[in-house]
Amino acid sequence: MAVGPHDLSTGIEPLIESSLKGVPWISANMRDPQNKPLVSPWRIVENENFNTGIIGLTALHETKDSNYRILPWQEVLPDIIRSLSPVCDFLILLSNMTESTNKEIASRFPHIQLIIGADSRLGNKVPLLVNNTVITQTHTRGKYFGRFQIEWNEIPLWDEANKREVVKNLLIDAESQNATERIPINDRYLEQLINIDNSPEAIPAGGMYSYRFIPLNNAIPEDPVAVSVLNDMQKKIRSQNRKTAAGITDKKQKVQAFAGSGSCVECHQAQTEFWKSTGHAIAYDTLVIKQQQYNLNCLSCHVTWDLDSGLESGGTNLLTLAPVMQSVGCEMCHGPLPQHPEGPNTPYTISADTCIRCHTKEMDDTFNFQERVRKIQCPGN
Ligand code: HEC
Ligand code: HEC
Ligand code: HEC
Ligand code: HEC
Repeated sequence: MAVGPHDLSTGIEPLIESSLKGVPWISANMRDPQNKPLVSPWRIVENENFNTGIIGLTALHETKDSNYRILPWQEVLPDIIRSLSPVCDFLILLSNMTESTNKEIASRFPHIQLIIGADSRLGNKVPLLVNNTVITQTHTRGKYFGRFQIEWNEIPLWDEANKREVVKNLLIDAESQNATERIPINDRYLEQLINIDNSPEAIPAGGMYSYRFIPLNNAIPEDPVAVSVLNDMQKKIRSQNRKTAAGITDKKQKVQAFAGSGSCVECHQAQTEFWKSTGHAIAYDTLVIKQQQYNLNCLSCHVTWDLDSGLESGGTNLLTLAPVMQSVGCEMCHGPLPQHPEGPNTPYTISADTCIRCHTKEMDDTFNFQERVRKIQCPGN
């Protein structure tokens, strides 16, 4: 189980405690202040002479907690793959990183055969082959059970991969003269790969998979014990976040690059008036009414911040935003416009992609861009 930002909502202690009780947490990039791993970076599962290496990656997120820090994947993955690749037959990465980061990792490391993601904006993700890595994930909150079935062959490649190219790259890594670049391959595969590289004949068949997302629907009753543990946990998280927010006296935090909706009115009065009449202007108040304004799970779509920052839920900085950022502001649709009054060419074209970052399938399953944009489109002057 890879550690995600939400697993750290009440700090590091509960995580370490449960880890000592046997919960198999892994994270390659979560470190203590002395740069030591706080939980195992990886595990190897041995099964009838077949070793599966499982690596965990925690998403980068802002935190005021000085008991841990999260390192970028570039600093930790190469060394770990270097040690696991020669002793494992199959490598899985459990990643809390965003979809685009997972793709970047896949293009760099054909040694990893499977990335199981946790990007909460994506829901169930049909497996996608990138280089030699299949990337997939199930819906959040245990709404689906994901089954991924593999038939593996004697080469460490997926059947649909561009095998010749992958083999070349694997061998370049394996044979590199530079010790910091060399990534050896399991002996079990090495000879096969060299044969493929040298022979113009047919390449042996690679691995195949099938998958299913099995919905765990309402007919399955709630477990009262689990519900009560969950409620207690959520209460703790809210009160922890409330304390964090109260501890910060300077509440005027603005998100870098964003000017805030208040800075547009002097030149765009008609549009500002109109925006105030839409739900976007009161999106944060909606959370206050529901007493969820300290819930990081909710804030990320109900305020103005950099959705593309790669921080999955924004982190605790979302708790202390200036009031002008506490709504879905102008810049969430028109893009950050710090220099705009000097050069009024907006860099953004508004399309469905602008909206579905928040109007996800999970939050708004009937979202239709053409129809809905009419309701929120600002008027001309
Ligand atoms: C100092 C004046 C000024 C301020 C402040 C200002 N704008 Fe503008 N904006 C303009 C001018 C001038 C234009 C071009 C003329 C027009 O279309 O009204 C423009 C055009 C636009 C357009 C349309 C561009 C296009 O392609 O047609 C958008 C969208 C826009 N502004 C958004 C914003 C937002 C959001 C803010 C606040 C973050 C903002 N503006 C702040 C002056 C300003
Ligand atoms: C930063 C997240 C975010 C983005 C981006 C976003 N929305 Fe929303 N939208 C929300 C939230 C949150 C609400 C609910 C607000 C409330 O009532 O509390 C909402 C509500 C709405 C509503 C109903 C409220 C009303 O006034 O009718 C419409 C329609 C809508 N959005 C359309 C869009 C369209 C179209 C886009 C893209 C051009 C878009 N939204 C972009 C978060 C977002
Ligand atoms: C992925 C983005 C996202 C997240 C995360 C999110 N919301 Fe929303 N929320 C939306 C959007 C988009 C809408 C508007 C949906 C629509 O118009 O049907 C909305 C609408 C709402 C509404 C209805 C507003 C109204 O009166 O119409 C409430 C209440 C709400 N959200 C509460 C929450 C709470 C509580 C959480 C955290 C548990 C949360 N949201 C997390 C995007 C999000
Ligand atoms: C939910 C998305 C959304 C938000 C939030 C939003 N706008 Fe717009 N705005 C649009 C759309 C859609 C258009 C239509 C033009 C286009 O598609 O680019 C538009 C058009 C504009 C225009 C150009 C109008 C014209 O035709 O001359 C200006 C200026 C503008 N918006 C300013 C603002 C300001 C200022 C705010 C905040 C007070 C704001 N917008 C908030 C979606 C949004």
